[in-house]
Amino acid sequence: MSEVRVYADLPALSAAAAQDIWDLAQEAVAHRGRFSLVLSGGATPEALYRELAAEPMGSSMPWSRTHLLWGDERCLPPDHGQSNFNLARRTLLSGVRIPSQNIHRIPAELGAEAGAEAYARELRYLFRDQGEERFDLVLLGLGADGHTASLFPGTAKTSGGLTAAVRGPGAEPAVDRVSLTPAAINLARTAFFLVSGANKARALDRVLNDPQGSLPAAMVRPERLVWFVDRAAAGIRPRAAPGP
Ligand code: 6PG
Repeated sequence: MSEVRVYADLPALSAAAAQDIWDLAQEAVAHRGRFSLVLSGGATPEALYRELAAEPMGSSMPWSRTHLLWGDERCLPPDHGQSNFNLARRTLLSGVRIPSQNIHRIPAELGAEAGAEAYARELRYLFRDQGEERFDLVLLGLGADGHTASLFPGTAKTSGGLTAAVRGPGAEPAVDRVSLTPAAINLARTAFFLVSGANKARALDRVLNDPQGSLPAAMVRPERLVWFVDRAAAGIRPRAAPGP
């Protein structure tokens, strides 16, 4: 099931997504005793992460029962300015009381292959008592070329398994990556795409209107999928201000 929700702008989109994440966290903890949340990289989720760290959510999210993971990571040190972990550390982790053992960073600094293998081991261990690696919620962004996580056009055809080593993706930063595979993402109960900006409108239109297409974001088909998009990404131009 896929649903598209259009918001006026990125702040409104981020506030709405934060509320839905809060709701899903309460439901997951009530029914399964924990909430597994896969974070996205890039710039779009920054406002959302700050929402989750700010009050009232900062102290009412069930952080002690929440496990944070990542959909992908660049092969950079975790304190590097372009590390997806570092983005989350600056905007979310540093502001909330989450146990360190609940933070499952992708060790991409080991290199793409070693990092992918280590992360897959961590995922299997985290879900060992569930019989399968089912994330409660995966957050995803959309690149202007239709990529998501580090699944890029032409490289997204990954083998099975949970994680993939992505060599020379041809995207900035031009470093190798570690990514969840489409199969791992599609095991999720729910996935949220957060898409903002006119530069994403063409890719969004292609993914929504050509779901069988080759774009990696079109390979995301979990049990429940919600697109949080702003008007610019939806191709809705601002109405001209009324004339004098
Ligand atoms: C990454 C992200 C990537 C991102 C998109 C959108 O590591 O870069 O995981 O998939 O979500 O490229 O990025 P923006 O939000 O910066 O537009």
